[in-house]
Amino acid sequence: MARPHPETISPTAHYTGFVWYARGQSHEAFATAPGRLMYRLLHAPNQLLHRVGLPSLEGMLLARHRVIDLQLQRAIAAGEISQIIEVAAGLSPRGWRFREQYGDAITYVEADLPGMRANKQRILGALGGERPHHRTEEIDALVDTGPTSIEAICATLDPTRGTAIVTEGLVNYFDHDTTVAMWGRFARALARFPHGHYYSDLVLGDDNADPFVRSFSWLLSAFVRGRVHLQFDTSTKAEAALVGAGFPTTRIIDPSVLDIPEMERAGARRVKIVAARR
Ligand SMILES: C[S@@+](CC[C@H](N)C(=O)[O-])C[C@H]1O[C@@H](n2cnc3c(N)ncnc32)[C@H](O)[C@@H]1O
Repeated sequence: MARPHPETISPTAHYTGFVWYARGQSHEAFATAPGRLMYRLLHAPNQLLHRVGLPSLEGMLLARHRVIDLQLQRAIAAGEISQIIEVAAGLSPRGWRFREQYGDAITYVEADLPGMRANKQRILGALGGERPHHRTEEIDALVDTGPTSIEAICATLDPTRGTAIVTEGLVNYFDHDTTVAMWGRFARALARFPHGHYYSDLVLGDDNADPFVRSFSWLLSAFVRGRVHLQFDTSTKAEAALVGAGFPTTRIIDPSVLDIPEMERAGARRVKIVAARR
């Protein structure tokens, strides 16, 4: 099992956190010095790609975040879910934004490895602190049992309320078998709730096979020292794996076909969004 060292992937969390802040999706408290530095280094290449109609990293990151938001908001509006666990939350502002939007109608758990969780605790401290309905937890998404497992976090939630697990910017760091095993763990942990949803971004091989994408991959690899895994070539293969892992109702959404204001279509075409139900 290839298991990337977390230090090799957390720099991207700082960068993405700053993109959300710089593009008006987040609060200044989430902006870190490493994130600002990486944003400054990559902003000019991103702008250039965007101007010539090629996918920019910023475009892809903003599209995936927005579409996951929309899926969650729809499931909340439909009364299907009112508890959310964002696994590998990094510097995502979603928990804070949802707290602002929904108050205590939604319970939001931001889970990450200890170092990144400590960052989030500091940030939330500056934004009024953690609350019973908006808190952080330590998690290791790759363990089956024990206090840092998804199973243990789900056990702390209300079993009568529909619950969603979210991963963003995590899955493509794991190889095929590690990814499928993690999805199985999520499906089993969600079994105790009346509704169990899973939302994630997923980069597919076939969406990133053309030569233009080399420029895009270069941006990615510029600050990801570990290898990025494109475990599935097609949506059909990803869907089959999710069904096999315990999510019988799975859709793979193409963000680029959605009518979302100001979305960069070229960037949005590079990523899919998983909307799965157990
Ligand atoms: C690339 S960042 C993505 C963070 C955020 N979701 C985003 O979109 O920017 C990857 C995150 O995964 C976390 N991570 C890495 N390995 C993990 C694991 N085994 N379990 C839980 N989180 C993990 C890192 O700490 C980091 O916050």
